[in-house]
Amino acid sequence: MSTHDRLLIIDFGSQVTQLIARRLRELNVYCEIHPYQNVTDAFLAEFAPKAVIFSGGPASVIDDGSPRPPESVFDLGVPILGICYGQQVMMHMLGGKVERGHGTAEFGRAYVEPKARNDDLLFGWFLDGREQVWMSHGDHVSQIAPGFEVYGTSPNAPFAITGDPARRFFAVQFHPEVHHTPNGKTLYENFVRMAGFKGDWTMGAYREEAIARIREQVGDSHVICGLSGGVDSSVTAILLHEAIGDQLTCVFVDHGLLRMNEADEVVSMFRDHYNIKLIHADESDLFLGELEGVSDPETKRKTIGRLFIDVFQKYAGQIDGAEFLAQGTLYPDVIESVSFSGGPSVTIKSHHNVGGLPEKMGLKLVEPLRELFKDEVRALGHELGLPASFIGRHPFPGPGLAIRCPGEITRDKLDILRKADAVYIDQIRKHGLYDEIWQAFVAILPVRTVGVMGDGRTYDYACALRAVTSVDGMTADYYPFTHDFLGETATRIINEVKGINRVTYDITSKPPGTIEWE
Ligand code: XMP
Repeated sequence: MSTHDRLLIIDFGSQVTQLIARRLRELNVYCEIHPYQNVTDAFLAEFAPKAVIFSGGPASVIDDGSPRPPESVFDLGVPILGICYGQQVMMHMLGGKVERGHGTAEFGRAYVEPKARNDDLLFGWFLDGREQVWMSHGDHVSQIAPGFEVYGTSPNAPFAITGDPARRFFAVQFHPEVHHTPNGKTLYENFVRMAGFKGDWTMGAYREEAIARIREQVGDSHVICGLSGGVDSSVTAILLHEAIGDQLTCVFVDHGLLRMNEADEVVSMFRDHYNIKLIHADESDLFLGELEGVSDPETKRKTIGRLFIDVFQKYAGQIDGAEFLAQGTLYPDVIESVSFSGGPSVTIKSHHNVGGLPEKMGLKLVEPLRELFKDEVRALGHELGLPASFIGRHPFPGPGLAIRCPGEITRDKLDILRKADAVYIDQIRKHGLYDEIWQAFVAILPVRTVGVMGDGRTYDYACALRAVTSVDGMTADYYPFTHDFLGETATRIINEVKGINRVTYDITSKPPGTIEWE
């Protein structure tokens, strides 16, 4: 548990609750999201928040059994900010009125006009008269609670911004955490300043604390860490190594489905540069042998997943005295989500490929990144001296090149694919586009086409280039390369990669396509 001043976000089920935490973390404020069902009097006493935020949510406070925070939250003596449903629940519990939104529902962009000044909350607001905000509500507050004043109004929300300055309770009808409320961050900044946060949640501080916690948890025991070369496992390994040195052994499973030079880069970075004990489990013969003749995508994935666990277990079993397994679990994976269909639901994504292993092997877990968001992991990687080329890497799926080689996988095809992929990524880097793209790769297609090179006929593979922009990999748009870029890249691939004589560009977005081909 963090030793920093802490802000508690009580989650009532809004789709954007995580964004509140993002905005606060950007302000170097430590916060945690907890579903309202878990926030009891005892929880509040133990958590001892320095401020509280009530999130939005889909329920109606007028309905019986609708979500509430415990009454005692109002007696903590700390500032509270209610957002949307959070505003309504605050008004309802403190003596105001909320009505169903017949005709007054408001979704989307709205403009709030100032009504009265409150520099505690609104310093830097209304400098140009009105502020754009994002509304998304059905019900609305029709009467504010005793002690509250109105600071801002919009055409459909007469109580868009309200507050009780004596108790430092504030409530807004809109969502200051979303991008479409451009000045929203200022509002959070004012709120946490008013609450007395020092803004001491920095990566430098986090690094020291995380190291101390790892030492305390692990003691003299030994830790095993599966290393893939991705950002999360890399940062986990380096942080653990700083904390416990040679008590850490990393296992890097090479399934023969990696990109050009990838295994060498990972091994030299971690073993030679960081001096981390690293087992390079070269099991490509095993994986490629079992995948021979397999063309069904699901069978490929299942085969790789099963072998990965076997191999990892085999190597981990050889490490004497291992008691812990390290995983790069992130905060979004452990946030418990609010479910209105049947009580609290816990969504915990087990880490790719090693899910279930700790129990099977009798190992305890050490998860030093479980309080961090992805971009904080990158910042920590930077703090730990991990090169920018590693930190900013595009995601690479566990099954590797297998799912970029539709149809049967052969060593020959994998070699061609690796070379084409290397040329493509080189082109992207040379044109300064790498960081604009979420993920880019080549897929080798299971078709051969006729071409002509010099005076001869060729009969070689076709490939597809893929490049997408995305925020989280759940949806994606294809990247709008220029025709010049595509033409130049196709020419280079055909000239430099023997075995490919045709290049296509995949312009499918997700949905309906997926990012990977399989
Ligand atoms: P799709 O292809 O489903 O992929 O649009 C979304 C994102 O997830 C990655 N991906 C995986 N990552 N193990 C992983 O670790 C997997 O089995 C896997 N399958 C897809 C994909 O590269 C993209 O970033």
